[in-house]
Amino acid sequence: MPLPYSEIVMEHFRNPRNVGRIEDADAKAIEGSPACGDMVAVYLKVDPETQVITDIKFESYGCASNIATGSIITELAKGKTLEEAKKISWEEASKALGGLPPVKVHCSVLAVDGLRAAIQNYEERHGLVKEREPTTVEFVRKRLKHVMNPVVGLDIVRTKLVKEIEVQDGVVRVVLDLPSDHMFASAMKEDIEEKLGHRWDVKQVIVEFTE
Ligand code: FES
Repeated sequence: MPLPYSEIVMEHFRNPRNVGRIEDADAKAIEGSPACGDMVAVYLKVDPETQVITDIKFESYGCASNIATGSIITELAKGKTLEEAKKISWEEASKALGGLPPVKVHCSVLAVDGLRAAIQNYEERHGLVKEREPTTVEFVRKRLKHVMNPVVGLDIVRTKLVKEIEVQDGVVRVVLDLPSDHMFASAMKEDIEEKLGHRWDVKQVIVEFTE
């Protein structure tokens, strides 16, 4: 039985707006969904004076709902300030799409999480984070739950790829239980560096592999 997608969802799925990547992005984030193993990447260009999102693009490795929500959130976020864009919720995205089937809610949550993570990435890169929570081993573990293991479509903590985490004098060391020549090794390394390297109290991120 086909899922009851609205006309608007189908239209955004067929002609998604703002698809692609921004090579010289001011911020970016990749988020994965533990519910289905799909991923979304969000790229931002931000006016440093006004903090208005001047350009936004997304890449979806998810289903039709995820592509449609990614498309609609880029439309909703473009031209908004970071503070305004932070408030975009999946309810709002889903409403703008004329509703999503309940089993597909997590797909729009994933797209909104991607947007929020990209905004957070911008704030961390530009020292705009107000609550300066220290980067502890626990904090690192929490962040690593947002790094996907594409082999199984779950995060690297849940799939027990994280062998060791060490935080000392602003240096974060993460050891992954994976050979360094694994096909996803460099993508995971890059994602970890991006997710932690811009923290206010982090000077260096070292990702090591067991083999
Ligand atoms: Fe994975 Fe929709 S089922 S994003």
